Amino acid sequence: MPHLAAEVADRVWRAWWKPNGYPLEHITGLVQNNFNSAPLPFALVAHHGSTFVGTASVIVSDMEERPQYTLWVAAVWVDPPFRRLGIGGAIVRHAALAAFATGAETAYLCALPARRRFYEGLGWSLQEQNVGDHLLDVFTLKTV
Ligand SMILES: CC(C)(COP(=O)(O)OP(=O)(O)OC[C@H]1O[C@@H](n2cnc3c(N)ncnc32)[C@H](O)[C@@H]1OP(=O)(O)O)[C@@H](O)C(=O)NCCC(=O)NCCS
Repeated sequence: MPHLAAEVADRVWRAWWKPNGYPLEHITGLVQNNFNSAPLPFALVAHHGSTFVGTASVIVSDMEERPQYTLWVAAVWVDPPFRRLGIGGAIVRHAALAAFATGAETAYLCALPARRRFYEGLGWSLQEQNVGDHLLDVFTLKTV
């Protein structure tokens, strides 16, 4: 479903790139790569028929400041009408399991402190705080 790649690019751009002045084209290639590459990086898409619902990606590196950490669950997004139904949690769980399926023993994730309750509620452990210019939390989840 190629249109889902375009929707992922649109949401990721609006949430994280457009506010910093980047054009949509800056992100479309990166997102397309998440659909074409094997085994990494990759994007997961939740959809209801042809309706885009949400997404997350598993990528090799997400923070310039922490090149030693890999793999990362990134670009977690659920469209507003579908929020608070448990879908975001389910996407993050699937993404972590997919990361572990590639052989990773630890998954990493960075987020604004406002998301701390969400990720801790999903079993992720706060590893570091105030990382990088955006003062992000870094979380880890270990395979069992
Ligand atoms: C963060 C985000 C992905 C969460 O998606 P979601 O589908 O709403 O997530 P869930 O439904 O699994 O859980 C969200 C919250 O709703 C709660 N919830 C879930 N179902 C609920 C229900 N039926 N009634 C009340 N609350 C509910 C969860 O417990 C969770 O609570 P919390 O805010 O205390 O953590 C979504 O809000 C989003 O896309 N935000 C914008 C982008 C963003 O911030 N992404 C994260 C970047 S790190």
